[in-house]
Amino acid sequence: MTKETLFDHIDPNVKCLIENADCLTALQKVDSATIDLILTSPPYNIGKSYEVKTSIEKYLEGQEEIIAELVRVLSERGNLCWQVGNYVDKGEVFPLDIYYYQIFKKHGLKLRNRIVWHFGHGLHASNRFSGRYETLLWFSKTDDYIFNLDHVRVPSKYPGKLHFKGPKKGQPSGNPLGKNPSDVWEIMEHDWDTAMWNIPNVKSNHPEKTEHPCQFPIELVERCVLALTDENSWVLDPFAGVGSTVVGALKHRRNALGIEKEKAYCDIAHQRVNELRQGKLKMRPMDKPIHKPTLNDKVAQIPQEWKQLELTNHYQENGHL
Ligand SMILES: C[S@@+](CC[C@H](N)C(=O)[O-])C[C@H]1O[C@@H](n2cnc3c(N)ncnc32)[C@H](O)[C@@H]1O
Repeated sequence: MTKETLFDHIDPNVKCLIENADCLTALQKVDSATIDLILTSPPYNIGKSYEVKTSIEKYLEGQEEIIAELVRVLSERGNLCWQVGNYVDKGEVFPLDIYYYQIFKKHGLKLRNRIVWHFGHGLHASNRFSGRYETLLWFSKTDDYIFNLDHVRVPSKYPGKLHFKGPKKGQPSGNPLGKNPSDVWEIMEHDWDTAMWNIPNVKSNHPEKTEHPCQFPIELVERCVLALTDENSWVLDPFAGVGSTVVGALKHRRNALGIEKEKAYCDIAHQRVNELRQGKLKMRPMDKPIHKPTLNDKVAQIPQEWKQLELTNHYQENGHL
């Protein structure tokens, strides 16, 4: 395996702490206004192995106590990114970001983007349309917040476009560093889908996947870290899971603090950080194009059994034949 040179020299001065604790207790020991980025995905109260499902009101009450502490530790130029999906009760959908927005607003934070993180695969619903996105609410504490757009620009679709009038007529109209990535992110999940389609056991075959049921792609972390912090900033994940935020922060020379209540996940997080330091952690490179299956991929072909169902016209209309 070829090593990416970056992994060979994680700055030894960069600090990394992974605390096995309840985050409310652990946060009380963190100094006020010291963290430049809080990036997390809280438990969704949907009955995952690490949570006890309760009413949405009780769940949010508990979260608000933690949020008050998070706002306290956030620096004046700091940003907070809160990634959530839906809570579903008896088939009714409760979009968690709508509930959370009210809480953050009450605590004085200002929304900068509601980012839609879109993915192409997941459970198929039968009583509603299948869910294919989650959201990431990006708030800042003040109007003077860290935002390094140039660090996360993406290649522009039409770099050759020119100004067609005015004093710059005939000159390139775009930015040579690329375009703004917008508030709809199609990150990584597609590749996980591909792994899922082609290889039955994603856990052992996907470059990043661990035994955690809902881990972040490191690429998503990297975009937030690069845009919303400076070198030597502190990045905090109060629900750190297997340490994806910690890894993404360290990779870009930011100090990282992860808090996680399950020891087994902390152990995996430590192991991932060690592998990163040794240049052995498998990660999907940030700029790798998203895999699109072609009709030559077995997974994109119409199964023999379906071909006998006299649906030829339907498939032709939809471009499958
Ligand atoms: C949605 S997962 C986050 C996964 C993480 N983003 C990753 O990439 O691994 C939420 C995590 O929060 C942890 N957790 C839940 N309540 C907690 C609490 N009060 N304090 C600390 N960790 C908690 C859970 O054990 C779980 O690992």
